[in-house]
Amino acid sequence: MSVHSENRKVTTHRLSEMKLRGEKISMLTAYDYSMAQLVDEAGIDVILVGDSASNVMAGNETTLPITLDQMIYHGTSVVKAVQRALVVVDLPFGTYQGNSREALSSAIRIMKETAADAVKLEGGKEVLESVNRILSAGIPIMGHLGLMPQSIHKFGTYTVRAKEEAEAEKLISDAQLLEDAGCFAIVLEKIPAKLGKQVAEKVKIPVIGIGAGGGVDGQVLVIHDLLGITQQFSPRFLRRYHNLAAEIKGAVGNYITDVKSQDFPNEKEQY
Ligand code: KIV
Repeated sequence: MSVHSENRKVTTHRLSEMKLRGEKISMLTAYDYSMAQLVDEAGIDVILVGDSASNVMAGNETTLPITLDQMIYHGTSVVKAVQRALVVVDLPFGTYQGNSREALSSAIRIMKETAADAVKLEGGKEVLESVNRILSAGIPIMGHLGLMPQSIHKFGTYTVRAKEEAEAEKLISDAQLLEDAGCFAIVLEKIPAKLGKQVAEKVKIPVIGIGAGGGVDGQVLVIHDLLGITQQFSPRFLRRYHNLAAEIKGAVGNYITDVKSQDFPNEKEQY
């Protein structure tokens, strides 16, 4: 059952209206048809086909290995299931940083082949040429600043970002650049709450946080973390709403017992 009385499709325009009237934006990841259908039916505003698929779906240590073809596969599956939420697909590492032509052709492939509503990419000034080129083709962009997992090898750690003044100032100026370029929203990952609030007050576009405090315009989490499917990952910002790992293992355990004891299938469960 949805928490919304109205099932009108969420658009980038509706997100900015939500910011204007102070309604917080809810966003979660999904990578496959079945999960996207459930998350959409529950009434989420934005579904992110995140490159975190590299970790939670493919078992990689970082987001770097996932390819454009793989993101398109996940994006296509999600879009088929979604009726209401705005669907955003991550541009994976190496498909937009090199040059703006390549960035545009990567974004066009995502939009054409998945029918998603928008793309997301990491970075500010360094990727501005790519941002401008993609936007000039009419493709909506969600920016991503703060902890940028695609740059993990530059920083070497997933700790809180922009604690120092110089990095905080760069983040504020990057957020302003992304807004001025025409991005429709920005994700801020793992930064001090005070800075998150400052950015959300400075820019007019919605700012969605993950570990960026409560002063931003919305929140995003990885669905596997929220549901308690991933077990090792426990950052301070994560609130687990379920312990699905235990439930899944319990159900699978019961099935194994029933198969071994020949309780399953019973007479009603066969032809
Ligand atoms: O890939 C992802 O899941 C993300 C979120 C953490 C914002 O970028």
